[in-house]
Amino acid sequence: MTDIIDGDAIAAATRDELSGAVETLADAGHRPTLATVLMSPDPASETYIAMKQDDCEELGIGTRDIRLDTDASAEALFETIDELNEDDSVDGLLVQSPVPDRVDYREVVERLDPRKDVDGFHPENIGRLVAGYPRYKPCTPHGIQRMLAATGIDTAGAHAVVIGRSRIVGKPMANLLFGRGPGGNATTTVCHSHTDDLAAKTRQADILVAAAGVPELVDGSMIQEGAVVVDVGINRVQREGESELVGDVEFESAREVAGAITPVPGGVGPMTRAMLLYNTTKAASRQSGIDADLPALDV
Ligand code: GUN
Repeated sequence: MTDIIDGDAIAAATRDELSGAVETLADAGHRPTLATVLMSPDPASETYIAMKQDDCEELGIGTRDIRLDTDASAEALFETIDELNEDDSVDGLLVQSPVPDRVDYREVVERLDPRKDVDGFHPENIGRLVAGYPRYKPCTPHGIQRMLAATGIDTAGAHAVVIGRSRIVGKPMANLLFGRGPGGNATTTVCHSHTDDLAAKTRQADILVAAAGVPELVDGSMIQEGAVVVDVGINRVQREGESELVGDVEFESAREVAGAITPVPGGVGPMTRAMLLYNTTKAASRQSGIDADLPALDV
């Protein structure tokens, strides 16, 4: 039987575990607070921001929802970031990407106070992750680590194959998987758009993480019998005149072969959102100096 990994349920359990820490901080007079900045009319970004805001409010985390006009200058965005960096009532801060083309997202990320960078995108936080002492693990790879741990999947000694080398998922995912400690110690291969004979590599995976952003790139023929398949893709495609959401994995053929698989939606997505709550609570504890007794989610 193939195990369909229930990201919604594991995310709900994660939020439950976090609620005590949020309450401890609020009782001690420091309500964790996340500021989100949106500078794009992109409907998907609007949806993501709304979900992040709702998640926070449901858990008792305060929010600041800052919107900048798409035509605003890069300087206006930087000034907004500077103000939020200085604002002691803001613990975590993120600027939703994409930003308009004329704004360099790298400069945006570098402008963030790394102590408030709950996405874990700032070069200082990436550097710490690679060096092996992360401050905030990026939410998607951290959520995947947590999901694997909650499903009882041991990464140590496994051959993990990651498809994709993005700053947000592929690179940090590979680092976490081959890093020392729980949720790591895997032998890790990273594949990307220049990889020759992708299927030959993916068939060697005990754990396969598909994060290429290519709809249904991976089908059942590319998966080793019994492998754990983690699908990071969220792709909107048109099929027979209908809009459909598909992952980077062709679910139906993959589930015939895989030992366990994450669905889209309801797999990685909810875990990403849950780990943003974790990082924001962690930021509040660090910034306030209040020991919130954070649950041991940092696999
Ligand atoms: N755009 C797509 N995913 C993300 C994310 O995780 N964080 C931010 N800031 N922007 C995104």
